[in-house]
Amino acid sequence: MTGSKTVLITGATSGIGAHTARLLLDRGHRVAVTGRDEGRLKAFLDGTGHPDRLLGLVADAADWSATEAAVARTVARFGALDAAVANAGFMTGDSIGAGDPTGWAAMVLTNVLGPALLAHAALPHLEAAGGRLVLIGSVAGLKNSPANLYSATKWAITGLAENLRLHATSRGIGVTLVNPGMTDTPFWQGADLPPFALPPRPVAEAVCFALDQPAGVDLNTLTVRPVGQPV
Ligand SMILES: NC(=O)c1ccc[n+]([C@@H]2O[C@H](COP(=O)([O-])OP(=O)(O)OC[C@H]3O[C@@H](n4cnc5c(N)ncnc54)[C@H](OP(=O)(O)O)[C@@H]3O)[C@@H](O)[C@H]2O)c1
Repeated sequence: MTGSKTVLITGATSGIGAHTARLLLDRGHRVAVTGRDEGRLKAFLDGTGHPDRLLGLVADAADWSATEAAVARTVARFGALDAAVANAGFMTGDSIGAGDPTGWAAMVLTNVLGPALLAHAALPHLEAAGGRLVLIGSVAGLKNSPANLYSATKWAITGLAENLRLHATSRGIGVTLVNPGMTDTPFWQGADLPPFALPPRPVAEAVCFALDQPAGVDLNTLTVRPVGQPV
């Protein structure tokens, strides 16, 4: 980004979102972050610094009024919105064949409805700013694995990124899909991660690279796998 910008990142109290927020703050930008858990949000804010350029908001990305309010409060605090990053997401980790369906609605609503809600709330502001929307997809949205509903939510994001691009490009807005490969974050809590898993930093750098594109450049897809990832 040329000049300092205002960026709203959903689900940025840990992992990829938190690393992206810290990189942007270190580079002089203004950042609003959301998360559902107030304690985790407070811990992130307390450990991050730059309170003059950082806004924390408790908001569920799957909830329309919370998303609308998060965008409105970001614009009220910083005066504009230059970029929105739909990052909030999680994986229940089970299979459609042998899992617990009670957790699936929240995952689908967060991972699929959430980015659509953020786009709806943010697009008028991004149009005013000539800004950019970034969606965090996944390699799981490019490849299939057996009976994997999480993967299906990310395939939905692959589609959403392109259909939003078709809408946004005539409004002067860029749309970037960033597909992380296996990344060592709390996303994998309780699972045994292979040693090749990426640290969050390279994925956060990819988001910043997308946000750094000059006016008129629409960088559409970035896939960031660790060397060694077999899928
Ligand atoms: N780690 C990987 O290997 C990997 C690979 C490909 C794609 N991804 C994608 O990358 C994104 C970030 O994941 P991560 O690895 O950084 O995971 P993470 O460390 O678990 O971070 C997820 C963040 O999202 C927040 N969150 C979850 N559900 C939310 C909701 N409904 N509303 C608002 N905030 C919510 C969490 O905070 P609260 O729980 O407090 O709300 C947390 O701040 C996700 O979309 C994930 O699918 C991750």
